[in-house]
Amino acid sequence: MEALVCADNSPLRLAVQAVPEPAPLPHEALVAVRAVSLNRGELRNLETARPGWRPGWDLAGDVLAAAADGSGPPVGARVVGLLRAGAWAERVAVPTSQLAVLPEAVTYADASTLPVAGLTALTALARRGALLGQRVVITGAAGGVGWFAAQLAARGGAEVTGVARSADRLIPLLERGAIHTAVTAIADAPGPFDLVLESTGGAELGVALARLAPGGLIVNFGNSSRAPTTFNVSDFYGRGSVSLYGLFLFDELVRRGNSGTRDLGTLAALVATGELVPQISITAPWRAPWPALQALVDRALVGKAVLNFDVSVH
Ligand SMILES: NC(=O)c1ccc[n+]([C@@H]2O[C@H](COP(=O)([O-])OP(=O)(O)OC[C@H]3O[C@@H](n4cnc5c(N)ncnc54)[C@H](OP(=O)(O)O)[C@@H]3O)[C@@H](O)[C@H]2O)c1
Repeated sequence: MEALVCADNSPLRLAVQAVPEPAPLPHEALVAVRAVSLNRGELRNLETARPGWRPGWDLAGDVLAAAADGSGPPVGARVVGLLRAGAWAERVAVPTSQLAVLPEAVTYADASTLPVAGLTALTALARRGALLGQRVVITGAAGGVGWFAAQLAARGGAEVTGVARSADRLIPLLERGAIHTAVTAIADAPGPFDLVLESTGGAELGVALARLAPGGLIVNFGNSSRAPTTFNVSDFYGRGSVSLYGLFLFDELVRRGNSGTRDLGTLAALVATGELVPQISITAPWRAPWPALQALVDRALVGKAVLNFDVSVH
């Protein structure tokens, strides 16, 4: 079989190469991949990975062989899943704790947008608990995580402000009622805030630290700007009982009691009922992923980019 593999002298250090068939462990199902989605962190990892390393976190597909230990979905089930690496391949072995069955109404492409982006959004919002009436601001709101976070926060009853480099990138979220205010910098947002979902890092995180309401929480899970943050700490603690939480999804899933299956199922069910709407700006065949990857590099996307796999199961 073939997969996308890190390779020197290839565009974006990625090439289609022959790889061994997966050998599932007892708690893993064998899945034929039908769609994967791309994440900014995967681009970053590709920059420094050794040749031969295989990227890929998000996947949707069909179960070819159920897990030998009897856990997880049966042969033929349509599933969505999450790996720590290697999902950009024709076939993969997926731990059943990170695999959920898809409702019929959810396409493989839409499902593939859910694992990293949707789970990060859900987990970050869960840090705050009840969101009814909470003032929430989301940086990178037009991005993969932000797109889902805004919808989930609004669904929970929060008053949501979205931040993007231009307000027009947030019009679909405004029209959907997922955000109430669109701004191009946290400094322009109508704070103070009970919850900040922050993934831009750099100067924006510094500003956010001084915009919290008493008891407020910043959940930081990214540094898309790749810039360091400086801030005056008295502008932070002086606001009273405020917190900064660093979130790393793979760690959170373990902390939440291997919640991948449950949380993916929750997200997929919301997509099935139309309560959560994925946004796919670009799709490409998996053997020619470079335009989709370049769009992510160029910040040209709203929401996600998806790679489709051949329909035939080998
Ligand atoms: N800790 C974790 O477990 C975890 C999980 C998921 C994601 N992440 C990280 O969280 C961040 C958001 O993830 P994502 O999947 O939503 O990424 P994404 O789809 O690329 O969205 C990021 C958004 O951030 C904005 N942005 C602001 N400054 C940027 C810059 N200098 N470079 C690139 N984008 C910039 C962009 O929107 P505008 O152009 O409109 O400003 C973009 O839409 C990424 O850094 C990702 O690596 C971490």
